[in-house]
Amino acid sequence: MLTEEDIRNALRAVKYPGYSRDIVSFGLVKQIAVKNGAVSVSMALTSASPETVQQIKSNAEQALRAIPGVGPVMVEVTQAGAAAAAPQQGQWSAQNKVPGIQRVVAIASGKGGVGKSTVSVNLACALRQLGLEIGLLDCDIYGPSIPLMMGVSQRPTISEDEKMIPPSGHGIKLMSMGFLIEGDQPVIWRGPMIMKTIQQFINSVAWGPLDMLLVDLPPGTGDAQLSLCQTVPLDGGVIVTTPQEASLGVVRKGIAMFRKVNVPILGVVENMSFYVSPSGERDDIFGHGGGRAEAERQQVAFLGEVPLATEIRQGGDRGEPIVISGPSSAGGKAFVGIAGNLRRELA
Ligand SMILES: Nc1ncnc2c1ncn2[C@@H]1O[C@H](COP(=O)(O)OP(=O)(O)OP(=O)(O)O)[C@@H](O)[C@H]1O
Ligand SMILES: [Mg+2]
Repeated sequence: MLTEEDIRNALRAVKYPGYSRDIVSFGLVKQIAVKNGAVSVSMALTSASPETVQQIKSNAEQALRAIPGVGPVMVEVTQAGAAAAAPQQGQWSAQNKVPGIQRVVAIASGKGGVGKSTVSVNLACALRQLGLEIGLLDCDIYGPSIPLMMGVSQRPTISEDEKMIPPSGHGIKLMSMGFLIEGDQPVIWRGPMIMKTIQQFINSVAWGPLDMLLVDLPPGTGDAQLSLCQTVPLDGGVIVTTPQEASLGVVRKGIAMFRKVNVPILGVVENMSFYVSPSGERDDIFGHGGGRAEAERQQVAFLGEVPLATEIRQGGDRGEPIVISGPSSAGGKAFVGIAGNLRRELA
């Protein structure tokens, strides 16, 4: 007799058009009903062209009709609006896509140099201080900066069951391409090799039980970042912006990228939000509030703002994130606040 699981397995053969990942792992399949060989499946897409919808529908029908013993087949594809893609309550509870890791959260930005890695390391440390077990995966193959920012240069070792044991810094388990390459050697790799390595970083690393694995994505929202979002089974994404970037539509691009792969957006962080001089004068060097305004426009959460501060850069250069070296500084407090907000968004 046909079961729901048979149907789901058959649908795993249907790839999302243009991608290597299938529609089941993308979370598009919402409901499956089987009765006396008759099958009905409903799917929801967030942002897809009519051609894509049609193609998924006919490919799914074809896959289902090929199951031995199947009777009438009905596939319904609905187009949910952008609002429906936002995190809904209870959405997380049932999932646990990587064994031993509760949540996988990506940190992305539309452009380089906005402080994505700085936010990643400080969020990791702040979440650790909240009592969570945290891992941090540096997916920036070409410019891995996490080892330096966390002050860790030790390489991973290999366990008896041939898994990589990630080195730790400030109580956080780390994995980065920076551990595996020699010195400043540039990495000249093609896309598929990068994807393979990242897959290994997820599956062949002994992360152990983690409450959250943070993933520092390479800058940008192009194809490379998109395929990383498909390779890593993400539960949510955080977008880092400067006030200036936000006004240039960079946040919107980040949101669009996550929505394309059905990854819920956990919120926006505005970095280099303002500057307070040693004498206490405030200067909105890059403008201020663009991140919050854009988050509101896009109906996603605003997680908080981080000041531009010399100690934040110094902390990064020294391998001691500000959350560790200056927890009571404005920057340190900002990150702890953001970590709390992030945890709430995921709860
Ligand atoms: N709030 C801040 N105050 C002061 N300096 C900062 C702040 N945020 C980041 N920086 C500094 O800005 C530089 C770029 O930051 P970071 O490397 O985190 O950006 P990124 O977005 O990860 O860059 P890339 O695109 O190269 O990966 C670093 O030298 C970092 O120390
Ligand atoms: Mg970086």
